[in-house]
Amino acid sequence: MNRWRAILLVVALVLGAVAEGRAQPRWSEDELRAIGAHGPWPPPATVDPSNRVSGVPAAVALGERLFNDARLSGDGTMSCTSCHQAARNWSDGRARARGRAELDRRTPSLWNVGQGHWFGWDGAADSLWAQSMRPILDPREMAGSTRSVAGLLRGDPTLSCLYRRAFGAAPGNDDEALLVDAGKALAAFQETLVSPRTSFDDFRDALVAGDFAAAARYPAAAQRGLKIFVGAGNCNACHFGPRFTNGEFGDVGIPFFVRPGEVDPGRLGGLAKLTASPFNRLGPYNDDRSAAGTLRTRHVQRLHANFGEFRVPGLRQLGSDGPYMHNGQLATLEDVVRHYSEVSPDRLHSDGVPLVRPLGLSADDQADLVAFLRSLAAEPPVRAAPAVECGAG
Ligand code: HEC
Ligand code: HEC
Repeated sequence: MNRWRAILLVVALVLGAVAEGRAQPRWSEDELRAIGAHGPWPPPATVDPSNRVSGVPAAVALGERLFNDARLSGDGTMSCTSCHQAARNWSDGRARARGRAELDRRTPSLWNVGQGHWFGWDGAADSLWAQSMRPILDPREMAGSTRSVAGLLRGDPTLSCLYRRAFGAAPGNDDEALLVDAGKALAAFQETLVSPRTSFDDFRDALVAGDFAAAARYPAAAQRGLKIFVGAGNCNACHFGPRFTNGEFGDVGIPFFVRPGEVDPGRLGGLAKLTASPFNRLGPYNDDRSAAGTLRTRHVQRLHANFGEFRVPGLRQLGSDGPYMHNGQLATLEDVVRHYSEVSPDRLHSDGVPLVRPLGLSADDQADLVAFLRSLAAEPPVRAAPAVECGAG
């Protein structure tokens, strides 16, 4: 190729890139490191030492049955699946959950819930098993009772058979201990709800391996959105790691008024409930009373800054259903991104340097960020039938 033709080719390529204007981004060392930290996926399987049946197949099978069993509720009409529906990413598509009454908060998805360390939007539980007992007893949710759950485990042949296999002994006489064990089986089941790999994971693994040809298959819009996510948007300050959450709490300017004159104090209220609960990790039901197993709970402090903070949700498998946020106030992912673009700084009462500020994103940038968020979801595989069967059913 002669020199002039080479120069013309370069000019044409540059003009082409300018005309397209929104090409695939290039990645700096810092960006590559930040993207790598959002994987690998799925994470290595772990067991929860606070739950002696975590990972035990018979407990998973028992938990799955209980999860679908309306007899856990006071009037026999409501099960966990009434609100946490498999076909709706383990949520219900409602802005606020409806039990016997409308609740103040949205039903969170249960994908990857086993990887967390605080549970509920306000972190009122410090274990998955304690969180799983709460809706059974809450009069606004399932309005069940300790006695009837214990009676069910003792009286139903299939449940008591699975219980024996999971816990190594027949259901005993202590009703409260049986309620806790039901929570532990429910937790063992929910730990298996791991969201599928996505196109983002293929991209991330290709970048980490230095395979730029494979990485180029990830849509350019999602790549540009990711660049905002780990860069100017500062989203990964809170939506960090493989699950896209640091598991802690934050305030992103969602109003906390429940109804005129009534507020949802968020994390501040959750801390009060956590420390008062007989089922927290400092109580007798924690199967791991070691220093490490109780560390977080021993060290919680109630600070005024916790008022109006809610748990940072993971961003995998958000779906396109919505609604979003603790009170379901934003209907679509487009609304969420617009919120971060336009959030009022006056509403944020965080101390020190705020992590959230109005980003003032262009319409194109907002569309790219949405494309990236959508790339964190994929069609989940069909769940295999429980491997353990016993008893009459
Ligand atoms: C009436 C609807 C409803 C029912 C029934 C229900 N839940 Fe929930 N669930 C919710 C809502 C709402 C929250 C958020 C609670 C909060 O933040 O205070 C939640 C939170 C959770 C969480 C915490 C998730 C997280 O990310 O921290 C778990 C785990 C959970 N529920 C499991 C269960 C189990 C197990 C059952 C059955 C025993 C159940 N739920 C029944 C509505 C429901
Ligand atoms: C200060 C920490 C923080 C930062 C920074 C942050 N978020 Fe969030 N994010 C949260 C918290 C906390 C919630 C839940 C707030 C609530 O419900 O009141 C949330 C909720 C969301 C949700 C809704 C998820 C759901 O299940 O309802 C999406 C989507 C989201 N954030 C995306 C982003 C994007 C995109 C950015 C960057 C532009 C970002 N976040 C920056 C903490 C943060």
